[in-house]
Amino acid sequence: MVEDCPYRELRYEGEVQPSLRSFDTEGRVIHLGSFSKVLCPGLRIGYVIADVAIIQKLLMLHSVGDLQCTTVVMYALDRLLEQFDLDAHVRHMCGVYAEKKNRMIALLGEQLPPGATYTNPEGGLFLWLTLPGGIDMGALMREVLVPRAKVLLLPGEALFCENPQRNTARLNFSHPSLEKIEQGIASMGRVLREVIG
Ligand SMILES: Cc1ncc(COP(=O)(O)O)c(C=O)c1O
Repeated sequence: MVEDCPYRELRYEGEVQPSLRSFDTEGRVIHLGSFSKVLCPGLRIGYVIADVAIIQKLLMLHSVGDLQCTTVVMYALDRLLEQFDLDAHVRHMCGVYAEKKNRMIALLGEQLPPGATYTNPEGGLFLWLTLPGGIDMGALMREVLVPRAKVLLLPGEALFCENPQRNTARLNFSHPSLEKIEQGIASMGRVLREVIG
């Protein structure tokens, strides 16, 4: 069982949930994490918590795939983690991201046309937007949202293994500034109200 948890530490509300790995008494769970989401997006360095026998197999597979991650970056990260209070950093960033998320949620409530819904996640970096059925978010983004609203989002269809729901999108709230969130949701809302009523 693979537990893929790069957003686990980014929780703004609700209760911290135990990891599946913490219940594992038989060495069956492989827990994955990433420094990209809690420290620096460009790092693309992750980690695995698993039994040694599994780690050894993963190391062999890794060397077939891309030999190894960049050694210099791993050394730099190792050095940084010796001196840097990552927990304090994550606590600080949770406050920053929670404010951005709450602003985005409040604006979506004001700006979206009837029939559009969105999630209010307790953590992570994204929320999930669903427009009324029959709307193709990819086409809408290319033909309307980007040229007219100057808003780029990830059409949800890219995130389904099968039977994609094309009327969905993933919205990121961590990267844009509060000002950009306000501008982006206002112009997206205006264009969506014009196009789908
Ligand atoms: C669910 C999930 N797992 C893994 C990853 C990969 O993380 P990384 O930035 O370390 O490549 C991502 C992010 O892009 C993700 O969303």
